[in-house]
Amino acid sequence: MTATDAGPAGALRIAPSILGADFGSLASAVREIDAETDWLHVDVMDGHFVPNVSIGPPVVESLRRYSPRFFDCHLMMTDPGRYLEAFKKAGADGCTVHVEVGGSASLINDARSLGLRVGLAANPDTPFEMVAPFLGDIDLLLLMTVFPGFGGQSFMSGVMTKVSEARREIDANQLDVDIEVDGGIDVVTAPVAVGAGANVLVAGSAIFSRPKPLDAARALREAARTGLR
Ligand code: DX5
Ligand code: ZN
Repeated sequence: MTATDAGPAGALRIAPSILGADFGSLASAVREIDAETDWLHVDVMDGHFVPNVSIGPPVVESLRRYSPRFFDCHLMMTDPGRYLEAFKKAGADGCTVHVEVGGSASLINDARSLGLRVGLAANPDTPFEMVAPFLGDIDLLLLMTVFPGFGGQSFMSGVMTKVSEARREIDANQLDVDIEVDGGIDVVTAPVAVGAGANVLVAGSAIFSRPKPLDAARALREAARTGLR
């Protein structure tokens, strides 16, 4: 499986979260929004790190046949290291692990060795200092704007201080690291997050719960552009 190119770090990207889609018709949901999709965000929940269970490598493998986009897999798992290879084989392009589970240095190394684009995620109450030491080793920093586990929650604007802090640090050191926000992103909150320094916007409900998901994704992109500095 050849990896899909993520595109240049720092560019504005819309990453629809399939967690917001109807799991009974994932393939058509993904195809329907393809024209407005930069990355496809795949939420993986293990029922341990978060109190919910979602999908795993077999679904990634099946979806791969229906989407040529960059598969951005968000591993909300206590032991992501056990599954990195399976996700890679299934067709994941990037995998993001949570800093809260520990062992970040070796997880980053393992993901890199497998040829994955590497992300590190932090929950809303995890301080920037926890992820700062790894900025030189990752491609993406995911700053959660809700506590992970469920779609449809409200955006936590307090996280924007951390987004700005991360943006300053990344720019000051000229690092090629994307800043992704995930949770409660819609046409109102997207420009706020982009204004603070985020460039990858994950959205589930704001796309898939709308009557016309493709139009909703387009509207989200247009709204996000208004936040560009
Ligand atoms: C939360 C997930 C998110 C979530 C986003 O645990 O990581 O990707 O599905 O959903 P919305 O956009 O509905 O907040
Ligand atoms: Zn996610």
